[in-house]
Amino acid sequence: MPNICAMTDENADQRQRLFFALWPDAEIQGALAEHACQALDRRRARRLPAENLHITLAFLGEVDADTRACAEATAAGLSGEPFGLSIDRLGYWPQKNLLWAGPSTTPAALERLAADLGEALASDCGFEREQRAFKAHLTLARKVPKMPPRIAIEPVDWPVERFVLVASETGPQGATYTIVGEWPLTGDTASD
Ligand code: 2AM
Repeated sequence: MPNICAMTDENADQRQRLFFALWPDAEIQGALAEHACQALDRRRARRLPAENLHITLAFLGEVDADTRACAEATAAGLSGEPFGLSIDRLGYWPQKNLLWAGPSTTPAALERLAADLGEALASDCGFEREQRAFKAHLTLARKVPKMPPRIAIEPVDWPVERFVLVASETGPQGATYTIVGEWPLTGDTASD
C-alpha cells in the first residue's frame, strides 16, 4: 500500500505560492515607502518593506510544478504593451485596514493585461476567474486602524516594461518574495 503521508510531503515540496505582478525598481519602491512613512507618521501599523512593494496582476495561490509551467506558457503567449503609470494617490480600505498607493487613472493597456492574463489562466490552466474588478494598487501597510489624515502625494512616475512571476514564502519575519520569471511588454505577439 502506498505511504500516503510520504506522497503528500513529496508533492508539497514542489508546490509554490505564486502570483503575477508588476514590480517597480528600487528607486520607485523607495519613493512609495517614503510616502507611506510620512502618511502614517508615528501611527501604529505594519508597513511593508520597500523591496516588497508591487502591483498584483493575478494571484495563483499554491500550485504544483505542472500548473506553474502552464502559467508560464500562458504568460509567454500574451502580447502586452508597455505603458506609463502615475502613482498619484494613496487610499485606505477600512474593511482590510490597508493603506495603498495607486494611479487615479488606470491605463487601458494595464486593464487589458490583467484581463487577458486572468482570462488565459482560466481557459488554459483551469484557474478560477477573479470575480472582483481589477483595482491596481500597491499595498503599503496593513493593520492601519483608520484613514491617515494626510494622503496627498507627489506623483511617482513608473514606466512599466515587464511583468513578473513571483514566489512568496512566509516566515517569522513576514513574506519573502522572489521573482522567478519575467516577460517583457513589447506589444509583440509570440509569433511576431
Ligand atoms: P494585497 O496586497 O491587496 O493583499 C501577495 O500576497 C500578493 O497577492 C499581494 O499583493 C496580495 O494583495 C495578493 N493576494 C494575496 N492573497 C490573495 C487572494 N486570495 N486573492 C487575490 N490576491 C491575493
